[in-house]
Amino acid sequence: MAKIVILTGSPHNPGTSKTLADAFEKGAREAGNEIFRYDAGLQGKAAPHYLMLEKASGMEVGIPDDDPVENKVIPHLLKADVVVLAASMYYFGINAELKTVIDRFYDYNHELKDRHSVILVSGYGTQDDMAAIKLHMQKLQDYMRWPSLGEVYADDSWNSGKLAKHAQEAYELGKQIH
Ligand SMILES: Cc1cc2nc3c(=O)[nH]c(=O)nc-3n(C[C@H](O)[C@H](O)[C@H](O)COP(=O)(O)O)c2cc1C
Repeated sequence: MAKIVILTGSPHNPGTSKTLADAFEKGAREAGNEIFRYDAGLQGKAAPHYLMLEKASGMEVGIPDDDPVENKVIPHLLKADVVVLAASMYYFGINAELKTVIDRFYDYNHELKDRHSVILVSGYGTQDDMAAIKLHMQKLQDYMRWPSLGEVYADDSWNSGKLAKHAQEAYELGKQIH
């Protein structure tokens, strides 16, 4: 049994990266894993996602007491075995809501090292259009020391048949995790 944290970013509901994350989560639950999921794009106005750092020297700003990433997400990440990043491709990068949660890792870079990771990305373009995201994710995984357990890059996400195949891959990936 692995402790898995799933982080999604898209404000699109139902959306294509959500479809991948839902399928992964289903497989991972069926395999008996413990899941915590945070949908950064679906938190509403109550959860502003912008960069706030307390411990980084020279960059201190206050974190409000009710901050959801600090209070809900970071404690689960600190205990996690596997981190799943589920992004939609917006302007050839990952969507901003997920990125603002990733930016909050900065206070915890050291404590968060040595987990495993899974990447799920959807976008209307081709695999080649996703090149910048693939490089970004590889650099992030290396920097965080989070070896990859697998990734699904769902290109042509407007194509529902193709998206269903990618969702099946995400489901099977979730099933393989123990
Ligand atoms: C703000 C915005 C920017 C986008 N930028 C790109 C892009 O650069 N390349 C691309 O192929 N598709 C782009 N798309 C299309 C999305 O990748 C596509 O709709 C994807 O399925 C959205 O995922 P989601 O449903 O999880 O939000 C963009 C869509 C939006 C809303």
